[in-house]
Order: sequence, then C-alpha cells, then structure tokens
Amino acid sequence: MKFKLEVTDPKSKARAGMLTTAHGEIETPIFMPVGTAGSVKAVHQRELSDDIHAQIILGNTYHLYLRPGLDVLEKAGGLHKFNGWGKPILTDSGGYQVFSLANNRKLTEEGAIFKSHIDGSKHVFSPEGVMDIQRIIGADIIMAFDECPPYPCDYEYARKSMELTHRWLQRCIDRFDSTKGKYGYEQTLFPIVQGSVFKDLRKQSAEFVASCERDGNAIGGLSVGEPAEMMYEMTEMVTDILPKDKPRYLMGVGTPANILEAIALGVDMFDCVMPTRNARNGMLFTSEGIINIRNEKWKEDFSPIDPYINSYVSTFYSKAYLRHLVISKEILAAQIASIHNLSFYLWLVGQAREQIKIGKYADWKNLMVEKVSRRL
Ligand code: GUN
Repeated sequence: MKFKLEVTDPKSKARAGMLTTAHGEIETPIFMPVGTAGSVKAVHQRELSDDIHAQIILGNTYHLYLRPGLDVLEKAGGLHKFNGWGKPILTDSGGYQVFSLANNRKLTEEGAIFKSHIDGSKHVFSPEGVMDIQRIIGADIIMAFDECPPYPCDYEYARKSMELTHRWLQRCIDRFDSTKGKYGYEQTLFPIVQGSVFKDLRKQSAEFVASCERDGNAIGGLSVGEPAEMMYEMTEMVTDILPKDKPRYLMGVGTPANILEAIALGVDMFDCVMPTRNARNGMLFTSEGIINIRNEKWKEDFSPIDPYINSYVSTFYSKAYLRHLVISKEILAAQIASIHNLSFYLWLVGQAREQIKIGKYADWKNLMVEKVSRRL
C-alpha cells in the first residue's frame, strides 16, 4: 500500500493525500461507510459507488466470522467477491465488537473468550487468530487486535490495557508478516494507539505504534463518552507523534463537526455508524444543519432534502415525502435517509479536501463546524 501526502494546510495540520490499495485509490481525508456484516445497512453496492461516491467501506471481523463464517467467505474468494464491492475494504479486528456485543466475554493474555450474541456459542479471539481471519476475509487494510478501555477508567487499568494492546500488536505483526494474502493481492496491517485519556500513556502508545513502521496507523479508544475537547487533545498529541508520511485513521468518529476538527489535527481516515444508524431514526445531516425529519415542521416542506448534495435522493425527494415515509415506517425511508446521510458525509470530506488543496481549510472549517452543527 502506498500513501502520497499531497498538500498540508498552512494554518492547520490538515492534509490531503492519496492512498493506493490493491482495489483502487482513496483520496484523503476520507469517510468510510460502515458495512458491519458485509453490507452497509439499507444501501446496496451500486448506490454506494455511483450515488454516494464511497471509495472504501468497513467490515467487522467479529460479525463476518460469526456469520456467514470463514468457510463461506473463503469459498467465495474473500469479501470483495462475496459482496460484489470491488473497491477497497478495511476490516476492524473484533476486539471492540467483542466488548460491545458478545456475552460472557473475558480477557486474558492469550486473547478474548466470548459467547456469540447470535447463538451463545463459545469462541476465542487471539491476535494470531484475528490475523488469520482477516487474511480469509481479504480486506485491503486490516486492524490489529486491541482492547478499547471504557471511559472513564482509572490510570492503572488504562496502563495495563495499553501494555496488553502493545503485546498483542507485536503478536499481530509477527503473524501477519509470516503469512500471505490468500487471494493474490496485498493486504496491510494498521496498529492502533490506545491509552485512554492519559497524556503520558497516549504519548507512549503513539511512540510504540510509530516504531512499528507500518503503512498506516490508527487512533482508538476515543469517542467513547469523553468530552469532545478531550478527544481533540488526545488526537493532536498522537498525530504530532505518528509519522507524517503515513495515513492516520481515527476509529469510530464521529459527528460532522468531530470529523472537521480532527481533519484540522492531521487525521486522514474516519468511520462511524452515525450517518446510517441515525438515518434509520430520522436524523438527517445536511449542509445547513441537522434535521429531525419526524418533526411536524417538515410536514409540508416540499423543498429537496438537500439541494447542495450531489446524490439523486438528496435533490429529488422532498423533506415532506421523506417525513411521510419515516412516519409510515416504510422501508424506503431507511434507504433514502441512509443514502442521503452518507452522501453528505462523503461530500463533507470531499469539500474538506478541496479546501486543503487551496490552502484555506482552517477558516472554512470554522465556518462549516458552526453550520453543520446547527439544529434546524
Ligand atoms: N472502533 C472504535 N474505536 C475502536 C477501538 O478503540 N479499537 C477498535 N479495534 N475499533 C474501534
């Protein structure tokens, strides 16, 4: 995998770059729609590429391992062949999902023991096992097995957890580097910085991760309930340490404003369930602000969902019609709202990239954060 840093904004730490993977190029900064079980909920693959202009999507090791399982994925020739998404894929490693979804989970030096949230069956994830699983899934970018400590957590817990994540990272690297991709193309492994909200731990973790000299690096353990200012402070400490010539991925973040702020701190890649999950509850992100489409206010508003967003559904359907679909619990509501929200997120990072390229990101960001955070 190759990363070319193209431009850095003169008044912030924002960067524009180009990531090249076996399944194509990704312009950064980028947002990655979440396709947990091999599908971005309510959106099919042609809409993802042609309407939303997604360049990379995310999958989850935990879900894909449990269902459809490794035999099916391997027989299909990997996730790209299975779901027909020919562009880049990143898979999260499963640690985070084990702790948020699985039952009876237990952490040991060896890994995580858990019971499936689907049928209660017992499983073990180890750093080596998770590398092997992600080799079978075949994502272009795979993530190291880590522990994401809860917030708040005390210093000793955070330190021990970070040290465990570092030992697991070394085991992930040893396994990854001694195996090859199963389908004839290159995969790459991103390590994850942890350390909760403790500055010295974040510094130590960023230095350890940087010393591993991988193709890209991730920042985990944030957006777990801490105040936004704390998330930005930790992010900036870490981006100041991570190598400039490698992409930085801030995991699970966030609102449009969070993304714009983190881009200003030197982050290149993002993923979050917010645009799709909130779409299913009637929350729309627009270039003018945030809309709760269930609100009576939109009942007779026949203006487009968002005239500035370059996707068919955003300009073709009215707010009043989408409100009617949501209130009537029509399946189409989830489809239109999800496509719109993802189009908005991709539009936002695309605009950010353009502003970085003309050296005006910092000022634009300040205006835009205000605009996209407004409740309409
Ligand atoms: N998704 C959001 N945060 C995290 C994290 O800290 N670790 C992993 N593996 N995935 C995440």
